[in-house]
Amino acid sequence: MTLSALKSQTKLTAFGVYVPDRILTNNDMEKLVDTSDEWIVQRTGIRERRISADDEYCSDLCYAAVANMQARYAVNLADVDYIIVATSTPDTFFPSMAARVQAKFGIRSCGALDIQAACAGFVAALQLANGLLLTGVHRKILIIGADALSKATDYTDRSTCILFGDGAGAALLEWTEDGTLLGSYTATSGASGHHLYRSSLSADIDGHPIQTTGKIVQDGREVYKWAVTQVPKGITALLENNGRTTEEIDWFVPHSANMRIVESVCERTGIPLEKTLASMELFGNTSAASIPLALDLAIRDGRINKGDLCLLYGFGGGLTEAAVLLEWSL
Ligand code: COA
Repeated sequence: MTLSALKSQTKLTAFGVYVPDRILTNNDMEKLVDTSDEWIVQRTGIRERRISADDEYCSDLCYAAVANMQARYAVNLADVDYIIVATSTPDTFFPSMAARVQAKFGIRSCGALDIQAACAGFVAALQLANGLLLTGVHRKILIIGADALSKATDYTDRSTCILFGDGAGAALLEWTEDGTLLGSYTATSGASGHHLYRSSLSADIDGHPIQTTGKIVQDGREVYKWAVTQVPKGITALLENNGRTTEEIDWFVPHSANMRIVESVCERTGIPLEKTLASMELFGNTSAASIPLALDLAIRDGRINKGDLCLLYGFGGGLTEAAVLLEWSL
């Protein structure tokens, strides 16, 4: 477990998102596998998800989220000096999606890397960017959480295919004297990693044989138990270390994996469900994009305001967790 409560010098100065046009509803899922709208809504809170076009990949989702940011805010990308893309579904392992973004937007030669922290990816990227800004070496960092999960979903497995969707979120983070990223928490339960994986080269995770299809495989019950146990512990640790209480949180923005997980975490921590922002109802579990998509829904309907204290909490494959306390600055 790692905790930090350093003086912040990071401020979020622009924000954008993207989801593909194609909608796959629960009724559509009924035609693909033996399931029902009622079962999916009751167990997950998901009603529909967005699916990328056949020729639309993670890089395209990244580009569209950055373009959306440019359309909404007066951003200047010319002096961006680092790009971090969090994804588990890159078009290619290399070149990185970050290098592709650098080229696409004509950004000057700068640092560019992809990170892989599954559904904790967007918050992990925020934490890494915060660290780079704190050194003073970097001044303006573009982070993106993007996943084209439909390209890695087994649509014959009803226990997983009903969950996942595609999307992306981008944020610009800048160095400032009085930053708004107020606290940070990370944790990893690596010994449980085989409960949720996407295979690459090996057919084994430390003695646990795995399927080598390249599709997402999970033991839903194990992941569920882990999440509802670990996330409340992390919230308590993050708040205590930063001298805050649950009452002070304006918005709890957990990874939108499953509404039942969110409800259980709220019950265990005393955070009111009404103070929670989620995106799974409309977009399913979009992994590294789920937290920005939830924030975006709240920006659009005016729920979130400048100065609101937000607790962003990513968790998932690894199994890993990344959380931050952030004062909303837009
Ligand atoms: N439709 C209908 N029935 C389904 C189904 C579906 N889509 N998927 C599974 N089932 C069935 C199972 O086959 C099982 O049937 P059985 O009792 O006859 O064997 C029954 O429903 C219960 O399965 P189980 O896996 O125990 O269901 P669950 O209540 O745990 O719900 C998840 C399944 C996946 C929704 C749930 O485990 C979950 O959300 N886990 C966390 C997953 C997650 O969020 N992962 C991402 C973290 S980043």
